Amino acid sequence: MDNFNFERLLSSKINRRSLLVGAGALTGIAIAQARPVTGFARQHSTKVVAQPVLSGYPFSLGVASGDPLPDSVVLWTRLAPSPLDGGGMPPYLVPVQWHVSANESMSQIVRSGTVNARPESAHAVKVNVGGLRPGRWYWYQFKVGNELSQIGRTRTAPARGDFPKELRFAFASCQDWQNGYFTAYKHMAAEDLDLVVHLGDYIYEYGPQSGGPRQHNSDEIITLADYRNRYALYKTDPDLQALHAAFPWIVTWDDHEVDNNYAGEVAEDDQSQQELLARRANAYQAYYEHMPLRRSSMPRGAAMQLYRRFTFGNLAEFNVLDTRQYRSDQPCGDGLKPRCEATFDPNATMTGFEQERWLLDGLDRSEARWNVIAQQTMLAEYDFDARPEVEVFNVDQWDGYVASRSRLLNFLDKKKPSNPVVITGDIHSSWVHDLKTDFSMANSPTVGTEFVGTSIASDFPSAFIAPVSAALADNPHTKFFDGAFRGYVRCHLTRQLWQSDFRAVSTILDRNATISTLASFVVENGRSGAQRI
Ligand SMILES: [Fe+2]
Repeated sequence: MDNFNFERLLSSKINRRSLLVGAGALTGIAIAQARPVTGFARQHSTKVVAQPVLSGYPFSLGVASGDPLPDSVVLWTRLAPSPLDGGGMPPYLVPVQWHVSANESMSQIVRSGTVNARPESAHAVKVNVGGLRPGRWYWYQFKVGNELSQIGRTRTAPARGDFPKELRFAFASCQDWQNGYFTAYKHMAAEDLDLVVHLGDYIYEYGPQSGGPRQHNSDEIITLADYRNRYALYKTDPDLQALHAAFPWIVTWDDHEVDNNYAGEVAEDDQSQQELLARRANAYQAYYEHMPLRRSSMPRGAAMQLYRRFTFGNLAEFNVLDTRQYRSDQPCGDGLKPRCEATFDPNATMTGFEQERWLLDGLDRSEARWNVIAQQTMLAEYDFDARPEVEVFNVDQWDGYVASRSRLLNFLDKKKPSNPVVITGDIHSSWVHDLKTDFSMANSPTVGTEFVGTSIASDFPSAFIAPVSAALADNPHTKFFDGAFRGYVRCHLTRQLWQSDFRAVSTILDRNATISTLASFVVENGRSGAQRI
């Protein structure tokens, strides 16, 4: 999602595709120079240097953990003494020691080992630590030569078959570096959570823009080196680092990890399919390198398995979707507009048919009380035009893929998996929706609930708050909208109740911004739909 969608809403003539003609032309040159990742990997030295002479502190990008299972968790770091300039590591393998402790002082080591940081992976390392006990905290630390990383904290998932009394997590998305500080993360790190879920737009691909509190470090990113330097820039943020060190994360991406509003193999602008796929391979490689993902997500060229499932005993199961890699192109030329025929195309897809089958099968088999669908763009219908006789939809959202959405919602109606709750990012504003099999019929069954979190820092132009608010009356299934605040959503799940608190920072322009709760909603076990408390 970007601001230009909303400019289209206001009938602006600005066309992002034409604005970026210059960047598109440059893109062709850059792509021609990009080398495929696999060939690149083979050219690297296999020399191992245990005590490398480094130009600076190697753990400048912090530590992270993620993809928690009952007996294992993935630990992450990247050696980067010169983070914004390719990392600054010598071109050989460097052994990294890791330790996992049952206590914060790192005096009860339960697992340890050594892993090689490799130049072909930008000296990023991931350790899949097994043999851990379910549902408990662990602390971890890396060491290279005599240098120690900060200590991170992580937590395993509860044992399968357990029925925990509660789960606490928060979800976030959309952290445009140039638009504001990540102060929301400082506050999130102070919350009592088991887990953080990130729903995409971890980076933005754009070149430098003036007017915000800080700027990007290069022109629009295209090459693997570009994407690596952009992740490094974002990961220098102290609040982001602190939140990674505080909790395990489950991540998925949206569009800006590659290119605004790309769909499958189709670029936003005038890049060819071949150019987009080369760019996608670079972007996916850099994403994999910088996230605490399991080896099953390792990219193969321009393909990467990111959709996956996490189970927290019988209390909650998270179906984490990827609605960018396999989707068909946005209908009607993308943007905000009245529906064209193509929005109803039964062959159009958000998830691809394989992922769709995987999702429905998983929901069907689930034994969890709360079935979470963690995904990117708004699932619920929203007519952005307040006039009853005019309908305007954002066709980059599920509103552009009506048949795909109907298959999911009708499945929820027919098979009734326990308490489906959708959590969503992308739109830089806060929303609550009741999910209906037919949004145009008020008496249509409510088959699930959707919570849409605002951005960490990305812009929602204040000029759009009034027109979107005015359209609320035309969308009775929408229980809440706020466009004024940035922040995150904190969720507390028990066996009987799901509570979502919309947490808002006072400003994104001050690192000392305060936090407050904008609104709270609950979903009762066995009763779809949100109630404000
Ligand atoms: Fe975004």
